Amino acid sequence: MWTQGQVVARRDWSDKLFTLSIKAEIAPFIAGQFIKLSQGNTDKRIARAYSIVSAPDAELLEVLAVKVPDGQLSPALHQLAIGAEIEVSTKAAGFLTLEELPQAANYRHLWFIATGTGVGPFISMLRTQAPWLKYEKIILVYGVSYYSDLAYQDVIQQLQQQYPQQFVFIPMVTRESKAVEGMAALDCRIPQGLVSGELEALAQVDISPLDSQVMICGNPAMITEVQTMLLERGLTKNLRRAPGQITLEKYW
Ligand SMILES: Cc1cc2nc3c(=O)[nH]c(=O)nc-3n(C[C@H](O)[C@H](O)[C@H](O)COP(=O)(O)OP(=O)(O)OC[C@H]3O[C@@H](n4cnc5c(N)ncnc54)[C@H](O)[C@@H]3O)c2cc1C
Ligand SMILES: NC(=O)c1ccc[n+]([C@@H]2O[C@H](COP(=O)([O-])OP(=O)(O)OC[C@H]3O[C@@H](n4cnc5c(N)ncnc54)[C@H](OP(=O)(O)O)[C@@H]3O)[C@@H](O)[C@H]2O)c1
Repeated sequence: MWTQGQVVARRDWSDKLFTLSIKAEIAPFIAGQFIKLSQGNTDKRIARAYSIVSAPDAELLEVLAVKVPDGQLSPALHQLAIGAEIEVSTKAAGFLTLEELPQAANYRHLWFIATGTGVGPFISMLRTQAPWLKYEKIILVYGVSYYSDLAYQDVIQQLQQQYPQQFVFIPMVTRESKAVEGMAALDCRIPQGLVSGELEALAQVDISPLDSQVMICGNPAMITEVQTMLLERGLTKNLRRAPGQITLEKYW
């Protein structure tokens, strides 16, 4: 089922990365879920999934998207101006949510690992109270190619101020030197940061099957590499029939 939404605000983080704030009547959703956006008529509908970045109680639906060169839908989304209409699926879906994680008290550390627009569902979860009430430490690892691809720095900085002991933010920028913008991002890809031990050193906690839950989102090749490393360390995939420590969502 589709409903007509209207773009009421947009924010451009770079020439290809943007946030749309959409007014649309959809059913209640859980932080971490995605909706579909669509253009075209029923015969020739192009629909794609987008994680919701806003919190479930927010007035507007927010999505973070990147313009994929030669993509079928994202270049059209990138062109949407304020006031433009876009079709939105009325029901959100997806299992990359805190509710899907095992609730046992030993899981004290929550790792959010994202590349690119994969940070979106984690921002939505961080905007709710749930993770802050449950986990002693929350680590957000956010890997991008360029500094300008680091979206939502204002929200992240505010969380760092609000939860200085509980929240660790680790930006990773792969194609620009550390000197740029005076920000201390790691300059390697996420799997390399795991192999070298740099990520855990910065977080001051290890990723362990005993106390960690790890959620991974974004580039599928990154997810496969990270998952393989975690499986080798004894973590298992989190399934409803067999709870584990790794929960993931591949974007393509
Ligand atoms: C569950 C789920 C949630 C998603 N959430 C988001 C989101 O919040 N924001 C978002 O921008 N996209 C998200 N995507 C991807 C999105 O659905 C589209 O695939 C994307 O916008 C490209 O669509 P397109 O029609 O322009 O390109 P297509 O013609 O469908 O081309 C697809 C190709 O684009 C590249 N690609 C697709 N998505 C991305 C991406 N996010 N970052 C980098 N390269 C990409 C890949 O090479 C892929 O093979 C999500 C996908 C899934 C399955
Ligand atoms: N001007 C433009 O329009 C323009 C410019 C650039 C890219 N693009 C396109 O824009 C889209 C979005 O790109 P994006 O940068 O948001 O997402 P992305 O390509 O998934 O890159 C995000 C981060 O993931 C890393 N990464 C990629 N593959 C990985 C792997 N196998 N293991 C671990 N890390 C990995 C990247 O490192 P690396 O930086 O080392 O790859 C980068 O740090 C892509 O389709 C891209 O082709 C467009």
